[in-house]
Amino acid sequence: MTPEQRIYELRDLLHKHNYNYYIKNAPEISDFEFDAMMRELQELEAEYPQFDDPNSPTRRVGSDLTKEFVQVAHKYPMLSLGNTYSKAEVADFYDRVKRALNEDFEICCELKFDGTSISLTYEDGKLVRAVTRGDGEKGDDVTANVKTIRSVPLLLTGDGYPREFEIRGEILMPWDVFEQLNRERAEREEPLFANPRNAASGTVKLQDSSVVAQRKLDAFLYYMLGDGLPQDGHYENLQYAASWGFKVSDATRKCRTLEEIYDFIDHFDVARKSLPYATDGVVLKVNSQRQQRNLGYTAKSPRWAIAYKFQAERAVTRLNEVTYQVGRTGVVTPVANLDPVQLSGTVVKRASLHNADIIEKLDLHIGDMVYVEKGGEIIPKITGVDTEARFLLGEKVRFIAKCPVCGAELIRNEGEAAHYCPNDTGCPPQIKSRIEHFVSREAMNIDSIGPETVELLYKFGLIHNISDLYNLDGNDLYLLPRMGAKSAENIAASIRQSLNVPFERVLFALGIRYVGATVAKRLARAFVTIERLMDADVEALMAVDEIGERIAGSVVEFFARESNRELVSRLQSAGVRMALDEEIVAEKSDTLKGQSIVISGVFEKHSRDEYKEIIERNGGKNVGSVSKSTSFILVGANMGPAKLEKAEKLGVRIVAEDEFLAMIGEG
Ligand code: IVH
Repeated sequence: MTPEQRIYELRDLLHKHNYNYYIKNAPEISDFEFDAMMRELQELEAEYPQFDDPNSPTRRVGSDLTKEFVQVAHKYPMLSLGNTYSKAEVADFYDRVKRALNEDFEICCELKFDGTSISLTYEDGKLVRAVTRGDGEKGDDVTANVKTIRSVPLLLTGDGYPREFEIRGEILMPWDVFEQLNRERAEREEPLFANPRNAASGTVKLQDSSVVAQRKLDAFLYYMLGDGLPQDGHYENLQYAASWGFKVSDATRKCRTLEEIYDFIDHFDVARKSLPYATDGVVLKVNSQRQQRNLGYTAKSPRWAIAYKFQAERAVTRLNEVTYQVGRTGVVTPVANLDPVQLSGTVVKRASLHNADIIEKLDLHIGDMVYVEKGGEIIPKITGVDTEARFLLGEKVRFIAKCPVCGAELIRNEGEAAHYCPNDTGCPPQIKSRIEHFVSREAMNIDSIGPETVELLYKFGLIHNISDLYNLDGNDLYLLPRMGAKSAENIAASIRQSLNVPFERVLFALGIRYVGATVAKRLARAFVTIERLMDADVEALMAVDEIGERIAGSVVEFFARESNRELVSRLQSAGVRMALDEEIVAEKSDTLKGQSIVISGVFEKHSRDEYKEIIERNGGKNVGSVSKSTSFILVGANMGPAKLEKAEKLGVRIVAEDEFLAMIGEG
C-alpha cells in the first residue's frame, strides 16, 4: 500500500469510528486503537503534505494558530423564535396556524437546547463553513473551532444530500464537561462560567482551536435549509440528516392536536432534568415546508414556529445565616445558610452569594424569604428576596471586615469584586488548602495524603507549611490517630518519590495565584531555574509568550515575600527540583531571542507544532498574524495569499524552511 492509499484508508476508518462513537454511541474499537490510528495519520500527513485535506479527521485536534474571526453574511438570515411561557399562549399559536392554513397540519415538537446556535454549510458532502448567529445577518466564521467537535460530521455518509445546503443547530457543553471545566477554573481562581450556554459560546469563540478541542463540545442539528431537500416534511428531512451522519435528537414528535403537544411539554418538563445537557424549553414547528412558506415571517421570527420556555426551577426558603469560606489564595466567599428546601431533585441547604456587591444588590436581611435557583450553576444561587414576605426586618447582612478564621483585616483590590485575607502564612484554611494543592495528583502527586490527613497533620502541629512535609518521619506519622504502619510507610514513600517531580510541576505546586499547570510550564521553560524566575521583573515575565500583566504581577508579588523565598529555599534543601531537566536545557538556545515569527504554509521536515516549539526553544516568539513588528515569516508550501500580500506590503522578510533550519544550526 502506498502512503497515499494508507492516508485515505485511515481517514475513512477514523470517520467511521468517530461516527460510531459520537453519534451512534456504539464504539467498535478501543480508545487506544483509535488514538493509534489518529497518530499514524498525523504522522503520514506531516510527511506527505501534498495529500492534505481540510476535512481530515486530524483537524479535530485543532491548531493553536491565532486568528481573528472573519465575518460572513448569512445566506438566509438567522432569526430567533417568539417565546411563550404558558399553555394558553401555545393554544393561541396553534389557533393562529389553524386559521391561517385552513387545512390539516402537523406540529413537530422538539427540545429547545440551551447552547449557542451555529449554521453549517456543506458542499458536495463536505463541511465548508461554520458560522455563528452574530447579529442574525452576519456571523463569525468559526470553522476551525467547529471542526474539533466530534459530533459534527466533516464528510457526509450515505447519499441523497443536496449538492449545497445549510444545516443549523446548537452547540452544547454537556453538564459533566461544564462542571469539570468550572472545577478546574476554580482551582486556578479564574472566573467561573455561569452556565453551560456561556461556556459553549465562550469556547466557540476561543482563538486557539486546540483548546476548543479539549473542551468536549457536542452539537445537535435541528433545521435544514436549501434547495433540493429530500422531503417537504421538516421531521422527515431531519431523519435523512441523521442518515448522513448528523446528530439529530430523538426527543422529537410530530403532533396533530393541542393535547398531544401539551403531553410532549409535560413529559419533557420532567424528563429534561435527567438529560446530560441543558434545555430551556420546547420548540414547536409547523412540519410542512410548503405550509411554512405560506405562513411566512414577521420582522424577527417565523410565524410557523414558536418556543415554549420551561419555568426556571426556583424555590423559596428562609435565610438563617451568612457564613464565610476562605480559599487557598485567601479569597473570602459568602455562603447563605438556608432552611432545607427541595430543588430539582436535591435538598438545598446552602447557596453561594459570590461577593459583597451581590449581597448589597439583594439588600439581604437575616430571616428574609429568598428565591433559590439552580439555573445551570453547580452551586445554587440566591436570585432575589420576597420583600412582601418580610414580617419583621432582620439584621442587614454586611460583608465582614475581618477574616472569619484568623481575624486579619480583609483587603479588596481596586476593580476586583472579591475580598482577600492577606494572612497567607498564618490563616489555617489557606495553609491547609495550599498543602492539599501541593500534594495533589497534578502537582507533587503525593497521593497517599488526602484532605483528612492534611487536617490531622496540621492539627497535631506536624506541618505548618508545604516544606514541613519533607521533615516528617515515619514515627511522626505513625503517632497520628487511625494511621497504620502501612499507610505511614506509603506516605513517607510518596513524599520521597515527589523529589523526582519535574520543575514545571513543582512551580505549579507552589500555588502562585493565576499560575496553572500550563503557565507553570511556560515559566519553567523560559527561566530554567527558580533563581532566575525569582529575579524576573514584570517586564521580563511579560516577554514570555502568553504571560500577561495579571500573571506577571502575581508572580512578582509572590516572590517579593520573604516567607515565600524562604519556603523555596527550604524545599530546595530538601531536594525538591528547582531547575529544568538537563536534557530540556541542552535543547535551548538564544538564537532567535527577541524575534517575533509568523509560521505559514505546509512544511516538509517538521510539523507546524514542532516549528512552534523549535522557535520557543531558541528564544523566539511565535505570533499569529503579520504586522510591522514581525521579524520574519517562516514559510512552507501553499502560504496563504492574504498573508503574502500583507508581508510584501509591510516589507517583512520571508524565510524558507531550509534557510530557517540553517539559521538555528539544524541545516
Ligand atoms: S429552530 C427559524 N429548533 O433557540 C427557526 N431553535 O430563539 C430557527 N434553539 O436561535 C431555530 N433548540 O439557538 C430551533 N430545536 C430547536 C432549538 C432552537 C434551541 C435555539 C436556537 C435559536 C433560538 C431561538
